[in-house]
Amino acid sequence: MRASMLRWAGVGLGLVALASSVTPATAATTPSAARDPYFPRQGNAGYDVAHYGLTLRYDPGTRHLTARAAITATATTRLRAFHLDFRRTLRVSRVTVDGHGATFTQRGTHGHDLVVTPAAPVRKGDRFRTVVRYAGRPQAVTDPDGSIDGWVETEDGAFVVGEPQGAPTWFPCNDTPRDKARYDFRVTVPAGITAIANGELVGRIIRHGDWRTFRWHSGKPMATYLATVTTGVFRVRTGTTPGGILYYIATDPKVTAASRDVLRKVPAMTDYFVGLFGPYPFGSTGAVVDHAPKVGYALENQTKPLFDSPPDELTVSHELAHMWFGDSVTLKRWRDIWVNEGFAEFSAWMWSEHTGQKSAQAYFDRYYAKKADSWVFSPPPADPGGPADMFDGSVYERGAMTLQALRVKLGDDTFFPMLRAWYAAHTYGNVTVPEFTAFASAYAGRDLSAFFQTWLYDAGKPTTW
Ligand code: ARG
Ligand code: ZN
Repeated sequence: MRASMLRWAGVGLGLVALASSVTPATAATTPSAARDPYFPRQGNAGYDVAHYGLTLRYDPGTRHLTARAAITATATTRLRAFHLDFRRTLRVSRVTVDGHGATFTQRGTHGHDLVVTPAAPVRKGDRFRTVVRYAGRPQAVTDPDGSIDGWVETEDGAFVVGEPQGAPTWFPCNDTPRDKARYDFRVTVPAGITAIANGELVGRIIRHGDWRTFRWHSGKPMATYLATVTTGVFRVRTGTTPGGILYYIATDPKVTAASRDVLRKVPAMTDYFVGLFGPYPFGSTGAVVDHAPKVGYALENQTKPLFDSPPDELTVSHELAHMWFGDSVTLKRWRDIWVNEGFAEFSAWMWSEHTGQKSAQAYFDRYYAKKADSWVFSPPPADPGGPADMFDGSVYERGAMTLQALRVKLGDDTFFPMLRAWYAAHTYGNVTVPEFTAFASAYAGRDLSAFFQTWLYDAGKPTTW
């Protein structure tokens, strides 16, 4: 949805515009130059999605999902056929493109793709609307690091997290962090269940018999991995932060009491990061604490970070800081994960410092005291080595140490304005690690390449910088 994405989509054109003799699986593949090195099956450079309209009906009792996805996109090349990332666990019953029935297949694609052949090719530059009807019992996927991701069933609903590859477990999409889009959700669940998606509630909850429909609008660009429709029994609190930002906070009754104190800080944390980094990028802030302990992690779902259990203060501030770094300024390739995680973790240290708890330097010192072969230092944050290690502790802690070391090197009067300028320059965009290191050097007016080489790329414990 941005110019930079269109530039990227222009790389290696042609593969998606297949001849009819080419098998769908090959035709659906993203041009190699655009493939993510960690998740080469993700995404399609042949079109650019502007909007997803997701209409879902979910019954936690039967675990059955019935859905319709309306996807508005612009073709970046001529499309005789195209693929959407979509797991085969859900069965597609009908696809239309601009109102006309299209042929489609979920076969021959390793279970990852829905290949659509419209009645007539979509011309390069044309905006087109694909409607996919599907149903089934969504299933989480297992990530290279062994964790689960996607639609995770809970006792009373579903805990929905999509990083790095879970979005296609519940909706057909262009599952690359580069193709951000706007979203509208219409989610119908049994009375007594709350359906929580990104953005803000639109109008009232619609009552029809034993069912309730929640409409959510997410009006700012959002990567697919940050989309959620989390359902279950929830207690909800809404309001406005002292700084004037709407918030929506929901807790599973099983964890309401245990999360109360930390969630009280969400408004102040959000306002603090506005002061530190710049304007809040979305229409609302908040948090959702569910009871899904088997997940084992939290995710910075846009506007509403999602926690699997009662979080500590460091985790809540980490996930909220992701609204700036991760959600608004988003990695371009998964190997750039440090631009998300290192920044969010450093921000959590800053909240701690700001509130008179442990300072960022104290966090740095505590980790720096560890032995050279500690998990803190390996793998290096900007070169985790592969998708199995992209969420390793070193990406977070050595990643945050990098920013604290840079802060000390440049001084607060240069470092924080530099971070604000970085955020301002890339709001709603996608970035790489080299783009940041070049930006920091240019901003500071000095060559920081040796510093970043030591902190971000070299193996082992940094000793001199
Ligand atoms: N981005 C999440 C965080 O704030 C972690 C997500 C981990 N996901 C996974 N599939 N292991 O730290
Ligand atoms: Zn994080």
